[in-house]
Amino acid sequence: MINKVDLRDENSFYELGLLINEKFPKLFNLGDLLSSNLDYVFGYYDNEKLVGFIHINKLYENIDIVNIVVDKSYRRKGIATQLINHVIDYFDDVKSIMLEVNVNNENAINLYKVNKFEVINVRKKYYGNDDALIMRRDV
Ligand SMILES: CC(C)(COP(=O)(O)OP(=O)(O)OC[C@H]1O[C@@H](n2cnc3c(N)ncnc32)[C@H](O)[C@@H]1OP(=O)(O)O)[C@@H](O)C(=O)NCCC(=O)NCCS
Repeated sequence: MINKVDLRDENSFYELGLLINEKFPKLFNLGDLLSSNLDYVFGYYDNEKLVGFIHINKLYENIDIVNIVVDKSYRRKGIATQLINHVIDYFDDVKSIMLEVNVNNENAINLYKVNKFEVINVRKKYYGNDDALIMRRDV
């Protein structure tokens, strides 16, 4: 079941975030995200437990995926795909959805390709020494 994440899920939110980046809790504050007009965080819940989330920015008709992550023991069950589709369906005016991904993150690149995202650009050395692929899906 997918719902907006709320502050009660703060601990699970940061634990999941650590799977993306060890500095995650320093980079993102859930309270700030929840009070912003630009940010939305949707979670996938197994009963009451937060097991994955997608954090997006929405500016007019474009969505940027800032982060998406699924608990290791819940992967390959279609949860990330459901989270992506949920944000597209949640708003009724979305025309495009974009993201940046590390060129070495094969799992995520596979996820996006299967979900009809296309590489539209490469940002050199965006992640330290690693390049970023800019991917977009038109809705
Ligand atoms: C990337 C990630 C979010 C995918 O979550 P998920 O819920 O397992 O993804 P889905 O089950 O929706 O996968 C859909 C399809 O994407 C592809 N895919 C996803 N993970 C894959 C993997 N590890 N290896 C190969 N293909 C993969 C597959 O085609 C998969 O379909 P299939 O399982 O029927 O073969 C998850 O691996 C994760 O949390 N990774 C760490 C965080 C991260 O790198 N996030 C992205 C950058 S912010």
